[in-house]
Amino acid sequence: MNTNKILVIDDENLICYSLVKMLKGLGYPVEIANTGVDAQLKLASFKPDLVILDATLPDIDGLQLLEQLKADNSSLPIILMSSGFHSDLAFKAFNLGVEEYIGKPYILEKVEQSLEKIFINQQLSQDLSSHHPRLRKKHLPDQLVGNCPSMVDLFKTMSNCAQQDCKTILLLGESGTGKELVAHGIHDLSAREGAPLVEVNCASIPDNLLENELFGHEKGAYTDAGSREVGVFEQAEGGTVFLDEIGDMPLNMQAKVLKIIENRKFRRLGGSKEIESNIRIIAATNQNLAEMVKEKKFRGDLYYRLNMMTIVLKPLRERKRCIPSMVEYFIDRLNDEYGRSVNGISKEAMRVLMDYDWPGNVRELRNAVERAMMLEQGKELSIDHFCQETRSSNLKGAGCIFGCAEPNKVAIVLPVSGISIEEVEKEYLRQALERYDGNQTKAAKCLGLTLDTLRYRRKKFGLENYPAAHDHKVPTEIAGRGVVVGSKKENTGS
Ligand SMILES: Nc1ncnc2c1ncn2[C@@H]1O[C@H](COP(=O)(O)OP(=O)(O)OP(=O)(O)O)[C@@H](O)[C@H]1O
Ligand SMILES: [Mg+2]
Repeated sequence: MNTNKILVIDDENLICYSLVKMLKGLGYPVEIANTGVDAQLKLASFKPDLVILDATLPDIDGLQLLEQLKADNSSLPIILMSSGFHSDLAFKAFNLGVEEYIGKPYILEKVEQSLEKIFINQQLSQDLSSHHPRLRKKHLPDQLVGNCPSMVDLFKTMSNCAQQDCKTILLLGESGTGKELVAHGIHDLSAREGAPLVEVNCASIPDNLLENELFGHEKGAYTDAGSREVGVFEQAEGGTVFLDEIGDMPLNMQAKVLKIIENRKFRRLGGSKEIESNIRIIAATNQNLAEMVKEKKFRGDLYYRLNMMTIVLKPLRERKRCIPSMVEYFIDRLNDEYGRSVNGISKEAMRVLMDYDWPGNVRELRNAVERAMMLEQGKELSIDHFCQETRSSNLKGAGCIFGCAEPNKVAIVLPVSGISIEEVEKEYLRQALERYDGNQTKAAKCLGLTLDTLRYRRKKFGLENYPAAHDHKVPTEIAGRGVVVGSKKENTGS
């Protein structure tokens, strides 16, 4: 007997009959509703775990009902059916969050397969995200959350990689999409969990020190090598080495890493003995490695080797259905962290978050929720507490500065009374530093500056220590000159 209850909402008796027969045959408890009104009553009394909904009902449009159902309970899985397959309907339905769309005359097996997939995925994501203490707490600053199909697929792939002990994994995705969380998640889910996960950020270690960091050295290997030191590959024995920002690894080092991936053996600097190694290597980057190979900035042989098991993390704008569950999670987490009791977000604010394109991905969403929580004294996060760049779609023409989601394009509306270019520059610098949590290399790259220029301007604008921990920016009016986003601290007296 299946414990998942299914409500079929359709006014065509023949379809209801054959569906119910099939579902009961599979052991599901089933009820039928023939109208929208009936459906609302059955939802309250029967409390289904999944709904199969027809797009045309006598008293309400199926999509309208779908929208209501998802607004009341965004995690209720819904399969939409219609007579024939209509791509515009499919598009709207998926945007509203349906799990599956099936055109009639439907094939019963298709419903059966969809049900199986939905329930298995649901179980898997629950296991991974709520009942899996290792994934939740141990090393992770944040739990990996999200209930949209691409996150569910991601959970499955992570689980497969962990169980099959994939030795080499490449994580690709824009900055802030969760690559680091995924690397930790795979390690924690695998049999290597008890052994160390050692992380190296290839962009932040000077080229001449990276080899030593990775491979260690023997005593006397170079002038300052007073004693033997083990490197990351040895420290992680039995566990995982996470090579973050691998796109920034110098070419000569890439050749050495390729060797250890291929032979699972390496030598310490100045050493003659080959050391056997049992590690998993997870590499990550937000750069386009394939392009870099063409431009000869990344070794093709290493890329092909790494690319055998690749996990691509989609940008948040392509998995917006995850936003509500992520916001809910961040609110819970931040309530715990700050001893607050915010219990949700207004519908209007959620709509704004769903409309925005999140160029800084989940990191930016998290920061936006955190900032809103700092500003909100009551129980519900409102639209006023989200900064202008998030609300930009509502502000066009109001004389404001905002980022545009399209890469390499900016949309700046010049305020009627003008604005100093320096102020604009400072604002973008501040936003870049905030987006990358103060990481200068990434902020400089994002603004097309050299590291030196970024450092110089940071100093010039007094942003050396920005963002300090828990320094939350607040939307501010610059008297009569349009709206900019700035931190309370920075704008005092400016
Ligand atoms: N699915 C998710 N659920 C919850 N939090 C997430 C998720 N994805 C990312 N985050 C949060 O977003 C922030 C950025 O994540 P992470 O550092 O893993 O991204 P990244 O892809 O490694 O970024 P970068 O390329 O800039 O290093 C972190 O605070 C992380 O906890
Ligand atoms: Mg990272």
